[in-house]
Amino acid sequence: MDKILIRGGRPLRGTVQVRGAKNAALPLMAASILAEEACTLHNVPCLHDVFTMDKLLSAFGAKIEFTGRYMTIDASTLDSHVAHYDLVRKMRASFFVLGPLLGRFGKARVSLPGGCAIGTRPVDIHLKGLEALGASIAIEDGYVVAEGALKGAEFSFDFPSVGATENLMMAASRAKGVTRLFNVAREPEIVDLAHFLNSMGAQISGAGTDLITIVGVDSLGGTEHTVIPDRIEAGTFLIAGMATRGDVTVLNANADHLPTFLGKLRDAGAELEVHGTRIRVNASAALKAVDVTTLPFPGFPTDLQAQMMSMLCVADGVSIMRESVFENRFMQVAELIRMGADIGLDGNSAVVRGVKALSGAPVMASDLRASAALVIAGLAASKGETSISRVYHIDRGYERIEERLASIGADIERVND
Ligand code: UD1
Repeated sequence: MDKILIRGGRPLRGTVQVRGAKNAALPLMAASILAEEACTLHNVPCLHDVFTMDKLLSAFGAKIEFTGRYMTIDASTLDSHVAHYDLVRKMRASFFVLGPLLGRFGKARVSLPGGCAIGTRPVDIHLKGLEALGASIAIEDGYVVAEGALKGAEFSFDFPSVGATENLMMAASRAKGVTRLFNVAREPEIVDLAHFLNSMGAQISGAGTDLITIVGVDSLGGTEHTVIPDRIEAGTFLIAGMATRGDVTVLNANADHLPTFLGKLRDAGAELEVHGTRIRVNASAALKAVDVTTLPFPGFPTDLQAQMMSMLCVADGVSIMRESVFENRFMQVAELIRMGADIGLDGNSAVVRGVKALSGAPVMASDLRASAALVIAGLAASKGETSISRVYHIDRGYERIEERLASIGADIERVND
């Protein structure tokens, strides 16, 4: 199994190209199920989660070509509506195929994703929403069995779930009549999905606000679309630049997708410059503690909480971090403490007392963003070597992270243990 070795304490300097967003690419791939012609996606990241979705769609009978960052999905040949446990359990986003399968075939059988390292993550909102659209839903042998001709309806979300908003938008695109979804998620990935579906012939308005209206259509056709930049990857590189007191510019980023996050970096002492699709962080001044509460967009993204914590471990003062989106999303804390961090946990809050320096240690990645946090802590550690095991977690969401960090001055390598 691969490990990542880091000798920290070197300020990162230079430019890094941000890849296409994983969390946009996965629902876009799932949405291609709705098209009776081929769809082409540009700027698709080469990530394990993308390969898992590729396998899932191929298992339904779709023909997929993926070369470079360019993917063509021809779902005209689809002959199965069953998503098996072995693929769904690998990646929760596999559940995004439920809405489009139901929209296209009027039936779907999709394994329940099960628990995961960052909380129980139920799918009740997805299912209640599909029931509101007229689907009958049963749970049989660990699978969601959904059936029925979908009809437009009104549905209000208890919580603005990203995945449920995407599943319902996709399903309602092929429902008869008008659907109005209230209190939906407003993440940039939702807007990207709406653009994609509309370019296939769907009629969706309001994406990016908390009310989405969908006028169902009889069929959807092929299209071509470019995946938006990965805001979480951009944020991760910017935090790495700050934590190492460096000067890092991310290219192909969109600052409008990171409003609260960039404000917090400034509060923590960053000099930030935004020019078009370039965001530069310069952290020559001392780092300051800041309080952070994760929230749905446009709030501070939960997917950047762990990485931000690593940086705050070496900032002056005490930061309070509150995780309000997921339960049990402080998996990185125990490992950061082993590197010399001073962090106290109380339920969904963490008190981070800045220390002068972290030191390298052997640590274990537990989930995708927690592993990115350990990489940042390793880069910031002023002495010793950090070896991170179970790096397959990081490969789910970051393309060759060690090569890209090395290109901006990190002493980092991947070794096969
Ligand atoms: C997506 C992102 C993930 C990100 C998260 C929140 C993808 C592939 N993943 O995950 O990286 O961390 O948004 O920004 O896009 N919930 C329910 N019932 C449901 C659905 C969700 O209670 O039916 C709860 C979850 O347990 C969680 C919260 O809602 O506490 C947010 O989850 P959700 O927005 O659905 O996250 P995902 O779509 O799974």
